[in-house]
Amino acid sequence: MEKILLKYTDVPEQYRIETYIKDDGYTALKKALKMAPAELVEEVKKSGLRGRGGAGFPTGLKWSFLPKGSVKPVYLVCNADEGEPGTFKDRYLMEKDPHLFIEGTIISSYAINAKQAFIYVRGEFVLSANRLEEAIKEAMKAGYAGKNILGSGYDLEITVHRGAGAYICGEETSLLESLEGKRGYPRLKPPFPAVVGAFKSPTIINNVETIAAVPWIVLNGGEAYAKIGTEKSKGTKLFSISGKVNKPGVYEVDLGYPMGKFIEEYAGGIKDGKKLKAVIPGGSSTPVLKASEIEGVVLDYESIAKAGSMLGSGAIIVFDETDCMVKAISVLADFYAHESCGQCTPCREGTPWMARIIRNILTGKGKESDPDLLLEICDNILGKTVCPLGDAAAMPVDSFVKKYRDEFEYHIKQGKCNLG
Ligand SMILES: Cc1cc2nc3c(=O)[nH]c(=O)nc-3n(C[C@H](O)[C@H](O)[C@H](O)COP(=O)(O)O)c2cc1C
Repeated sequence: MEKILLKYTDVPEQYRIETYIKDDGYTALKKALKMAPAELVEEVKKSGLRGRGGAGFPTGLKWSFLPKGSVKPVYLVCNADEGEPGTFKDRYLMEKDPHLFIEGTIISSYAINAKQAFIYVRGEFVLSANRLEEAIKEAMKAGYAGKNILGSGYDLEITVHRGAGAYICGEETSLLESLEGKRGYPRLKPPFPAVVGAFKSPTIINNVETIAAVPWIVLNGGEAYAKIGTEKSKGTKLFSISGKVNKPGVYEVDLGYPMGKFIEEYAGGIKDGKKLKAVIPGGSSTPVLKASEIEGVVLDYESIAKAGSMLGSGAIIVFDETDCMVKAISVLADFYAHESCGQCTPCREGTPWMARIIRNILTGKGKESDPDLLLEICDNILGKTVCPLGDAAAMPVDSFVKKYRDEFEYHIKQGKCNLG
């Protein structure tokens, strides 16, 4: 399997431009600048690349939603906020190979006719932000960014904007509010950012990993990328795997790779020879899958959806037979209650309510009616909020209660865990 994103991440000092350019670095940009922007959009469309931030929306299609001949400036906003528990792939890329992402940012900006790109980076990612700022300086000095890039007449300014550590600011419209200096409240859609985005101008928002795939697509062609993966899930994908495995980390595989084999061969199998109990396949907001449900599942958007969950951001959290599922969901429920922005009533009121009920169950104060009450609260949040944070909070709770109801009931009846 050819690596597209992590090919050079193990090379010492890959984050420096001298190292990056040794292996084809910035040759995709040179090629791109000789192409018309529309040709690049077409190439990305042909590649079948889908957004790696969670929703899996086709990237080329998103780019083509920009209004033609807009008199307003167009912006590219790179989403480097990465706040979903379990997800740590973008940070890895930014720290290890920032120029790959910056090259992708320059090419993508050129393709959509943007003269200004913003990188909204999670505030806690100090090293990522520092590496990006350094890489931008190096790229400008070498003539790859700034005014009249490589004599092409194309100008691009890239600005790194550090967030203040709010998960909601990873949601694209809250991110835009925050970028504009306001409180990170999600906006109602439509209008979508491609039409009315940053500073009321047409804006394309893409995830770091999505943008980092663009140089390879330009160098090798969209068709070559589309040959990798499955019918509807093209290319390679980064998976960050954590929890009860021997080798947690970030790995790149072709989409369509078997999930069980990935856990065994890449992540080194379950720790201490224990049995696999469950996985959260796509970041903490996606429904949990029991070990029996991942049999035959492959790592692509369609297969995981068919099994009842989502590929999301590609963050696999692994549980073994000794893990208490009430305790696990209690941690996640606390997270979502803390991170709800408070704009919509179902999420603002529902997330702390769910967290309180689960904590009561965990500490021996649960009531028999609690599991049904939790499901009812989930039902009152799902699909009823301005942004998907409500769904992100409700989906894991709903799936944990439905799939591990016996563990919740044991806690309620016995006031302790059945796993000791
Ligand atoms: C609560 C919430 C948090 C999100 N956090 C991120 C994030 O940290 N990084 C990201 O790229 N997308 C995140 N997203 C998805 C973005 O809204 C958006 O879909 C994505 O940045 C688009 O890029 P893509 O098409 O390249 O995936 C989040 C969505 C929600 C609802």
